[in-house]
Amino acid sequence: MIVGIDIGGTTTDAVALIDGDISSVVTVEASDPITAAAGALAKIIETLGASLSDVDVIAATGVGSASLGSSLLGISVVKVDEFTSIGTAGSKLAGIDKAIVVSMGTGTALVRVSGRNISHWGGSGVGGGTLMGLSKLILNMSSINTITRKAKDGDLRNVDLTVGDISGGPINGLPETATASNFGKVTDDANDSDKALAIINLVCQSIGVLAVFAARANNFKDIIIIGKLTQIPQTQDILAGVGELFGVSFHKPKDAENATAIGAALHVYLKEKK
Ligand SMILES: Nc1ncnc2c1ncn2[C@@H]1O[C@H](COP(=O)(O)OP(=O)(O)OP(=O)(O)O)[C@@H](O)[C@H]1O
Ligand SMILES: [Mg+2]
Repeated sequence: MIVGIDIGGTTTDAVALIDGDISSVVTVEASDPITAAAGALAKIIETLGASLSDVDVIAATGVGSASLGSSLLGISVVKVDEFTSIGTAGSKLAGIDKAIVVSMGTGTALVRVSGRNISHWGGSGVGGGTLMGLSKLILNMSSINTITRKAKDGDLRNVDLTVGDISGGPINGLPETATASNFGKVTDDANDSDKALAIINLVCQSIGVLAVFAARANNFKDIIIIGKLTQIPQTQDILAGVGELFGVSFHKPKDAENATAIGAALHVYLKEKK
């Protein structure tokens, strides 16, 4: 059994890979990376009704993995570069071997995958952390569930300025519904639902456009999204809109929210199989 552990900026995921198949996934939150990794390992072993001795190796990845040594609770730790984990997971889970994989986590990372070639394309500090921070400041809301629930009834026309608002119709090949300026038209009628949706829209459109530019620069038609931010119900519609505008497809594979941990474990599994 290979246990993949992704110690991220907010959450830590663990996944158990048995003979290359994903058998269980858990998520924990702890601010100390070793506590988080040990907790996630314990939780996945308990979930499986297994014991520590069943684990052959730990594949560790994510920003917090730098804090781990060469073993954890007596089990050897192999560190997998986070971009390798993201690229491996995205392409394997989506079954696409030429794409930009976008990790939508606390921050955003873009990884270029072309066959076995995986490289870091770039990234942005605009991500899930931005969504949480702006929601706290603007709405005094700290729970992701409250924010997404509020956003369900939101109307972007009270907050965002569109191409149509400025030009009265489509212009230069841009439809009138395209965003000209996020938060560029905050009206006095804007309520909390409108603002919540506008925050989600700002974060997702910013990430989406970055990913599209990366895809275009590589002549790719596919973008694969992973990370916990993909769980937000509004994400897929917003990204689909960005994709449609630029002729690129966004794909959210199964297990997208735990993909980075899966990618780390898969990377070690595939290397051992060779
Ligand atoms: N249950 C949830 N549903 C939807 N979105 C969530 C949920 N939990 C967290 N998020 C969002 O996902 C973000 C964290 O994503 P994730 O856990 O993938 O990041 P991370 O791996 O900790 O960070 P990074 O990869 O940037 O180091 C949070 O900032 C929040 O916006
Ligand atoms: Mg992450």
